[in-house]
Amino acid sequence: MISLSTKKVLVPLKENSYQVFIGSSILSILPDEIKRRNLNKNLIIAVDGNVWYYHQEKIKNLFTQIACKIFFYIVPPGEKSKSYLELNEFYTHLLNNGFGRDTLIIGIGGGVIGDLIGFATATFMRGVQLVHIPTTLLASVDSSIGGKTGINFGKRKNIIGAFYQPKAVFIDTDFLDTLPLEEKISGLGEVIKYAFLSDYDLFNFVEKKFNSLFDKKIIQEIILKSVSIKAAIVAQDEKESSLRKILNFGHTFAHAFESEMNFRVKHGEAVVAGMIAALFLSNELNLLSNQNLEKFLSLPLKIKLPLKFASMNKGNIYDIMHSDKKSSSGKINFVLISDIGNILLDVHANKKEIFNALQKTEDAIHKNLIKPL
Ligand code: GLY
Repeated sequence: MISLSTKKVLVPLKENSYQVFIGSSILSILPDEIKRRNLNKNLIIAVDGNVWYYHQEKIKNLFTQIACKIFFYIVPPGEKSKSYLELNEFYTHLLNNGFGRDTLIIGIGGGVIGDLIGFATATFMRGVQLVHIPTTLLASVDSSIGGKTGINFGKRKNIIGAFYQPKAVFIDTDFLDTLPLEEKISGLGEVIKYAFLSDYDLFNFVEKKFNSLFDKKIIQEIILKSVSIKAAIVAQDEKESSLRKILNFGHTFAHAFESEMNFRVKHGEAVVAGMIAALFLSNELNLLSNQNLEKFLSLPLKIKLPLKFASMNKGNIYDIMHSDKKSSSGKINFVLISDIGNILLDVHANKKEIFNALQKTEDAIHKNLIKPL
């Protein structure tokens, strides 16, 4: 039964539409939802190793309520698992255990699990059924919604992938209780992104409540708001031909930062640094006033980023951004901002402007680190 505190958001995509369930302890509705959809045939649950460590009893108890043969498959935690090696392991496991076209794959974990398992699901036997159970803030507010799946290849982030929508998403906010601090901070990167994309109400709310964002009620509200914004965007532009690009605010820089640091940083932290760089570049190109620059920087700068973000090789970052999948005709397509809710797509900048923005980003991150708390 769905309790009153459970929220539902529809991602309306015609025959690919699906519900996102959000709430505390909402996993209890999962067995019924799966049976109701007639998905309980051949079930495999792919779980992040850390989530398995903390929640294996809860996960096992939940799935034994579903009358079918169940496999649990544990994925090593961390961005390194978003690789063709890990994909190969998973395909091998599926084939060795006789999984066929009637398979339902449920991914339980953060963005890495969602992207990796989502891509495996999209490609195994030309696509089987998928359900996401995001367990991190980042995956709850962003990556589990909208069907982006994929893996990294060499130093190139998400360069191999597919759009593949799940049948449902279950966001049980209880998982956030065991989330390590760095993961919480990482998730805030995407929350801040939604504050920039949305309106002053959300921006001011996130800024004002920043120190209490993880209170149960507030975080549930933030997740609901972010999922609703994303669902509305994805409904209008599922495959990112135009509007959906606004969700990449800060990400062109962020993917280059992650790649330059061999993925040894959290995605959300890179997004925070990437949004700082995007704000500086917007100002550099006279799209954003000095006054708004200062006001807007105050939100991402509430997060103290690791020192390595203040000493990156700008030449490498520039080169990586050129090879990003979002570049076209040798030009980097930036997503910039002129005001809250006013996002500018496919903006170009010259090398000097980009280097200036990167230098100012490093200086701001460094200054922020030495500022007393
Ligand atoms: N994370 C950006 C998107 O889903 O489009």
